[in-house]
Parts: sequence; structure tokens; C-alpha cells
Amino acid sequence: MRKKIVGSSWKMHINSFDEASTLAQGIAERLGSEEEVDLFILPAFPLITMTKAMFYGTNIKFGAQNIAVAEKGAHTGEVPVKLVKELECAYVELNHAERRSMYNETDEMTAIKVGLCEQYGLTPIVCIGETSEDIERDRSRMTLRTQILWALENASPAFREQIILAYEPVWAIGQAESASKEYIAKTHKMIRELVKADFNEDLSNKIRIIYGGSVSPETALQLSDVEDVDGLFVGRFGLQAENFEKIVNNFKGESR
Ligand code: PGA
Repeated sequence: MRKKIVGSSWKMHINSFDEASTLAQGIAERLGSEEEVDLFILPAFPLITMTKAMFYGTNIKFGAQNIAVAEKGAHTGEVPVKLVKELECAYVELNHAERRSMYNETDEMTAIKVGLCEQYGLTPIVCIGETSEDIERDRSRMTLRTQILWALENASPAFREQIILAYEPVWAIGQAESASKEYIAKTHKMIRELVKADFNEDLSNKIRIIYGGSVSPETALQLSDVEDVDGLFVGRFGLQAENFEKIVNNFKGESR
């Protein structure tokens, strides 16, 4: 049985301590004792210590939006995995479409970072997803398969079960609405089948696959009963505590 998980990356939308503390406090008050669903928040690096303090004693975990591709050394401007671990982060987001398109991150870098996460005991949330060009050229399956292989291959069989695959169709990020329920259900099923074919059935049954891309309270309601959707990765529509709570509760199926 896969436990449901809902998380949010604040990207750089939250860019001040004031905003971060208001939002983290609101989330802690509303969802701090949540047990049915795993929860995580990924703030910008300098906000991690404050977020950690706000979530102290709650069930809400936190993490980083990225780590450096190397363990240490001459990597100006990068953040080492060791510090992320020492800050007591639980999760690290990897391979987000914005990192790929704006900062030239590659599958190979993702694979190395997954290895670093395993070494330091951090759970990677690896984003995968096709672009609209992939759809036009009828190569979505191939793109997803390639990304899954890079995400999982550099991890030990035991660690692979912990990795979270975040399916984020690139064309559905930053839009007014998420992809349709049917499209998401179909693709999540395909992702699970790809994991089964390239790795094994046990892993495909255990690995959590979450959906991201313009997730709103409505999306959460629609996806709450979709078998292969184990969680949600929330962006803009989770930047108000009340909305984030609604997303979590809707996904639990509480408003059905
Ligand atoms: P969005 O972000 O919900 O603002 O589209 C989603 C994401 O990129 O994870």
C-alpha cells in the first residue's frame, strides 16, 4: 500500500522571510498534525532554516529544490548535499523542467544527484515529463522512459523504492489548469508499466508517482481516486495556506 504524499515547491515565488514565515506558520497550524498523507515543503535555500523552525514538532517535512552535482570542491554558487543533510532536509527535488530549460541540467546530472541523495540519506523527488514537442512527434513514451531510466539506474535496488517520481508534463506547468484527469491517469499507468518493464514488478508496485503541473484544489479532487496517482506536487496554487490545506483535504477525498 503506497502512502499518499502531497508537497509544494515554493520555487522563487516566496522570496522574503516575512512571506515565508506567514505561509509556513499557516501551513503548520492547519496541517501540522496530518497523519494520513505525507507532506513536504521545498523553500528556497536561505529559507530552509526558518522553515525547519516553523515545522518543528509537526508532521510536515521540508527539503531543497536542488543540490550540486558534486559532493564538494570548486563549484561557485552551488549548494552541497552535505549541508542540505545537515539542515535536516528530508527531500531533494531534481530535474525540474525549469532547471533543465533555464540552467541546462541534464539526465546525467540527475543520475549523479540521485546517487548523492542515496549516499546522504535524502529522498529524491525526480521530475519527469514530456514537452508539447514530444507529443507532436509522438515520442512522449520514449522521453518518459529515458528520464525514468536515468532517475533510477544509479540507485541501489533498495533505494529505488524510496525515490518519488514526479510526473510533470512540461506543457502543463504554469498554466491556468492542470492536464486532464484522463490524460494524467493514462500517463501514470504508463509510467508504472515502464518501471515494471525496465526494472521489476515489485518496484513498480512500491514506487510513488505524483502529479505536478498547475495543481489546484479542483485537480486534487479529481485525482483523489485515481489508482496510479499517489500524490501531488503543488506550485502556485499552494502559496496560500488555506489553498494548500484544501488541496490536501480534497486529495484525501474528504470533500466527496
Ligand atoms: P505550477 O508549478 O503548479 O505553478 O504549474 C508546478 C511545478 O512546476 O511543479
